[in-house]
Amino acid sequence: MADSEDIPESTVHNILEQDTLKWVFVGGKGGVGKTTCSSIISMLLARVRPSVLIISTDPAHNLSDAFQQRFTKTPTLVYGFKNLYAMEVDPSVDNDEFGMEGMDSLFSDLANAIPGIDEAMSFGEMLKLVQTMDYSCIVFDTAPTGHTLRLLQFPATLEKGLEKMMSLKSKFGGLLSQVTRIFGVEDEFGEDAIIGRLEGMKNVIEQVNKQFKDPDLTTFVCVCIPEFLSLYETERLVQELTKFEIDTHNIIINQVLFDDEDVESKLLKARMRMQQKYLDQFFMLYDDFHITKLPLLPEEVTGVEALKRFSRHFITPYQPSLEKGTVEEVEQRLSRLKEQLAEAEVELEKL
Ligand SMILES: Nc1ncnc2c1ncn2[C@@H]1O[C@H](COP(=O)(O)OP(=O)(O)OP(=O)(O)O)[C@@H](O)[C@H]1O
Ligand SMILES: [Mg+2]
Repeated sequence: MADSEDIPESTVHNILEQDTLKWVFVGGKGGVGKTTCSSIISMLLARVRPSVLIISTDPAHNLSDAFQQRFTKTPTLVYGFKNLYAMEVDPSVDNDEFGMEGMDSLFSDLANAIPGIDEAMSFGEMLKLVQTMDYSCIVFDTAPTGHTLRLLQFPATLEKGLEKMMSLKSKFGGLLSQVTRIFGVEDEFGEDAIIGRLEGMKNVIEQVNKQFKDPDLTTFVCVCIPEFLSLYETERLVQELTKFEIDTHNIIINQVLFDDEDVESKLLKARMRMQQKYLDQFFMLYDDFHITKLPLLPEEVTGVEALKRFSRHFITPYQPSLEKGTVEEVEQRLSRLKEQLAEAEVELEKL
């Protein structure tokens, strides 16, 4: 094809080749294959990078299921790898390990006053921690769409928290610190300490957010399936990411019914036709994206071996059924020609 060079390659090679990348987010609707895809991307990155960390920010942790290995809040080496680590954190939990102890009452008051601030704080603490760890690349297996986008709003949430604290402080002057003293809260856990913490956190988050908005450092991989709702959600996600100025140029379409076996089932054939309709729309809408198609397997993709086997579809483009369609069309045309030829021969014989 003359214009084939203009079409982005249908693999995730671009991610593996972009050696400046530090943060890779993988997100999409529930159950479409985010954990499977982020696990495989982290495994592929581990081949070309000195060290890779995969983090699940989904409260329903499933990295442990994918790798069939138990993970915790501390990065743990994945079995069979020398440079791939995994950790599971829950941004919605007020993590004492992140240094929240002693601030409980004031902090929970604050948390109640500003929705999302506790989540923002623990996400911030986690990022602070991860930044000191010096991984070459960090892959995020995010929670379903809405949740992911909330993570990206955390700097704004923290800013709001800070403003609220400041206005409280100016309104009530020393009253607040008197109250905290009366209730036995030490100065180090008082309002100044909280404001200090919020400010410190804001700096970390702002710094990281700047990195998230830098396409050299960060990209977002959208995972979906070839169905109407998923197409719709992907478009919403892409638009939100654009709003947050976060780079995205990879879409992974999972659970594609491969048309390379002779399928007898009417149901499957109908599903394939439906999928093809949405696949076409994906390719039309996102012609500047790398679109990787993954087959629907008869079994789950769990365990390092299964993930490794499945990873070949991330680096070798799937032969589109379109090509097969073309072959079928040619065959149809050929058989039609043969029929015409036979008819012509009959006519000839008549003469
Ligand atoms: N192409 C596929 N063929 C067959 N099974 C698959 C495929 N992709 C993923 N799976 C399986 O489907 C299940 C869901 O996949 P996965 O956990 O990756 O989705 P998810 O988007 O992370 O889900 P959640 O939103 O619940 O976190 C898993 O059991 C996984 O092994
Ligand atoms: Mg998951």
